[in-house]
Amino acid sequence: MRIVVVGTGYVGLVTGTCFAETGHTVVCLDVDARKIEMLRAGGIPIYEPGLEELVKRNVKEHRLSFTTSYAEALEGAEVAFIAVGTPPGENGEADLQYVLAAAEEIGRHLTRACVVVDKSTVPVGSAEKVAEALARTAAHPFDVVSNPEFLKEGAAIDDFMRPDRVVVGVASERGRAVMAELYAPFVRAEQPLLFMDLRSAELTKYAANAMLATRISFMNEMAALCERLGADVDQVRRGIGSDRRIGHPFLFPGVGFGGSCFPKDVRAVMTMARHVGLDFDLLRSVERVNERQKRWLVEKATKHFGSLAGKTIAVWGLAFKPKTDDMREAPAINVIEGLLGGGAKVRAYDPVAAGVAARLFDGRGVVLAEGPYEAVEGADALMLVTEWNEFRQPDLVRLKATMRSPVVLDGRNVWDAAKTRAAGFTYYGVGRNAAEMG
Ligand SMILES: NC(=O)c1ccc[n+]([C@@H]2O[C@H](COP(=O)([O-])OP(=O)(O)OC[C@H]3O[C@@H](n4cnc5c(N)ncnc54)[C@H](O)[C@@H]3O)[C@@H](O)[C@H]2O)c1
Repeated sequence: MRIVVVGTGYVGLVTGTCFAETGHTVVCLDVDARKIEMLRAGGIPIYEPGLEELVKRNVKEHRLSFTTSYAEALEGAEVAFIAVGTPPGENGEADLQYVLAAAEEIGRHLTRACVVVDKSTVPVGSAEKVAEALARTAAHPFDVVSNPEFLKEGAAIDDFMRPDRVVVGVASERGRAVMAELYAPFVRAEQPLLFMDLRSAELTKYAANAMLATRISFMNEMAALCERLGADVDQVRRGIGSDRRIGHPFLFPGVGFGGSCFPKDVRAVMTMARHVGLDFDLLRSVERVNERQKRWLVEKATKHFGSLAGKTIAVWGLAFKPKTDDMREAPAINVIEGLLGGGAKVRAYDPVAAGVAARLFDGRGVVLAEGPYEAVEGADALMLVTEWNEFRQPDLVRLKATMRSPVVLDGRNVWDAAKTRAAGFTYYGVGRNAAEMG
């Protein structure tokens, strides 16, 4: 099939590339001319493991191309995916302007009947708005489909190629048939291809993210309780995660969730609920716990030192999670702001997000070190914010020799508390008081 993907970001580029990989002819379109130029020149604008190789292969085999021109992209297109951003608007609701602008442009440039698929995360009722936008400009028939995306940055290719399930909201037989054909290669291991109505598909995406965010905030609240009661949250986590009704994923306490999805999607659910007269109390707490958790590192360090003024603090990890360069709503931003606000000097290191961080903290005096051990030179404390693999087994002897004082704050509970303490460090973990006492 001839497929267009509008929006060549984390979701659009992965979607387009994976469909090309199964043999379709895909054009990825973006309004950001620099991004398209870079892709045409063989570059990849984002860090996503495995993506570069896949893009290169499909470009070479002429199944994948890039453009800023709707006319060029939509020539003969049978399916058009909308994968543009839906950032939070002023009142917390998702801002639909990019989705609707894309829909109007798609409509204007249709050359034949087309299935238009909304892959962006959009509020319930958006498919109807997309249909209206298309109807304003289209001279050919179209079917609107909702196909929310569940990929995780850092594992996006694998998630797309081997999804747990695919959710598709349809209102027509044609939409259903085209989606069934497109996804057939990805659900060969009998993963469910769940067809449902448009509104339910739209809400399913938000419900999934809200549930995952709730699990994280639940565990962060439990970690706070552990600290006060002298229990160890890691042991509690293992204890409950082994219950099949609960399961292990997303039970890790830490410095709060961030990224381009959870915070905005939690807010969007609350706003959608408010608009229909429902106060989604639970999610208000989820958000409040998360805000508090993002202050955990700075508060612990302030308590330890009395004041952060004049202290040098090293930060390991800036991306909102490992294996991505994405810093949208990353807890590291709150941590660094908090440190700077307290009068500390910050020396930070991230394996791939340093370029993004340099733009974010330009002119603020944050030193972006070349490596993890350069970051800790002369540091009074080290904070682990993002648990990249390379931080999991630090050379404690080298660390101690390089730092000014041996204080580590493990915001992801990945270090062995007893071993770290035995090496002469003061160790703080999230909700790990029992180990400290024992
Ligand atoms: N990033 C994720 O992990 C993830 C996962 C699942 C769902 N989502 C959802 O997918 C959507 C896209 O997210 P993303 O992270 O890929 O965003 P992104 O910001 O990385 O990419 C969006 C792209 O759309 C382009 N764009 C904006 N308006 C356009 C227009 N009118 N025409 C063409 N291009 C346009 C932008 O230039 C940008 O390159 C969002 O709704 C998001 O909530 C994201």
